[in-house]
Amino acid sequence: MTVRRIGIIINGATGRIGTTQHVRNLMAIRADGGLALGNGDRLMPDLLLAGRDAGRLEALATANGGLRWTTDLAAALAGPDEIFMDCSATGGRPELVRRAIAAGKHIHVEKPTAATAAEAMELARLAAAAGVKHGVIQDKLFLPGFAKLMFLKKSGFFGRIVSAHIDAGSWIFDGELQTGQRPSWNYRKADGGGLALDMMAHWRYMIDRLAAPVERVAAQISTALPRRIDEAGRAYDVDVEDTVHALLTLEGGIPATISNSWATRVRRDDTMCVQIDGTLGSAIAGRNRCFTQSAANTPEAFAGAAAGLDLYRDWAEMPETLPAVPPFRQCWELFLRHVGEDAPYLPTLVEGAKAVQLAELVYRSHAEGRWVTAERLSL
Ligand SMILES: NC(=O)c1ccc[n+]([C@@H]2O[C@H](COP(=O)([O-])OP(=O)(O)OC[C@H]3O[C@@H](n4cnc5c(N)ncnc54)[C@H](O)[C@@H]3O)[C@@H](O)[C@H]2O)c1
Repeated sequence: MTVRRIGIIINGATGRIGTTQHVRNLMAIRADGGLALGNGDRLMPDLLLAGRDAGRLEALATANGGLRWTTDLAAALAGPDEIFMDCSATGGRPELVRRAIAAGKHIHVEKPTAATAAEAMELARLAAAAGVKHGVIQDKLFLPGFAKLMFLKKSGFFGRIVSAHIDAGSWIFDGELQTGQRPSWNYRKADGGGLALDMMAHWRYMIDRLAAPVERVAAQISTALPRRIDEAGRAYDVDVEDTVHALLTLEGGIPATISNSWATRVRRDDTMCVQIDGTLGSAIAGRNRCFTQSAANTPEAFAGAAAGLDLYRDWAEMPETLPAVPPFRQCWELFLRHVGEDAPYLPTLVEGAKAVQLAELVYRSHAEGRWVTAERLSL
């Protein structure tokens, strides 16, 4: 057994997702003695934390047992580390990915990969032409609730899928009465903000795989809270949407809906709920739990509810049958296997471009007031 070191530059390491997901899960792989490959070798992540604030980088590096860190990204890219992860603010991503590809790094980045599908596809083509491995984070399918939905789909539980519904979001405070829970760049177009760009990236792969590929979209976007307070306590104007309502038609004519808002108060099982209805059964999942109702267990709900039937009664909770591995760790393990032993890999930068495409379709449909069709994207 050989332990193979693999150098990973984490740009934006001190950001929310950089620290709580990427650094933490790669450190967990390290703590387990690296990732076991098929031939018995172990791939040991060796992190180089990159960012703009030396003090915060040093503190994070120290808190993780003395990791390497730098504020000089050019030097990091010129160095020998093999993988580049960008989890800094969305707006700068395409340029950073171009630089990393030019430096010969394998690319594994946060979503969204760019602001337009054309630019996202350009990145995918550049990576393919350079012969580097490339991937985008698609973590939500690994959350236990949505993994159970995937399991149901694979098992044929739904029969013929007749519709899919996504109901998501929560109230993000505007900073007046309570501090905002999302960074202010999320509400500025120039920095890559906007709910559609942020969240359609997830809904695209969720719908494509849990139900069927997206074919067309009709959408409305809106901004519920046009003025907010930033991290420094300054008021600013929001120039992006915080709410999306979309109708979709999926392959095979399946209808789907997305209702997603940062200005909605939650009275449902979770902040993200996905329901799939099929001829043989329905299921509804939040991030952790998933409930099913099969055709044979379906009560007559209309008269039943009027007569006092508890409509929750005939739903069965799915058991925990899948290993509880954190979603971002699963994303990293798949990508590391792809780099380390050429294992098959689905969420490439082409998938990243499909995710951006759904956001773009939402914006175009809203601007033009009509249905818009998803062009097929491939290298
Ligand atoms: N996969 C997911 O579920 C998920 C969840 C949240 C965020 N994200 C993505 O992760 C990225 C970071 O989001 P976050 O919530 O951690 O944000 P964040 O603001 O907490 O972190 C962003 C980091 O980038 C740095 N940064 C900001 N502007 C920069 C600039 N102009 N140049 C260089 N660095 C800059 C910040 O200092 C910070 O360290 C975004 O692209 C977001 O879409 C993904």
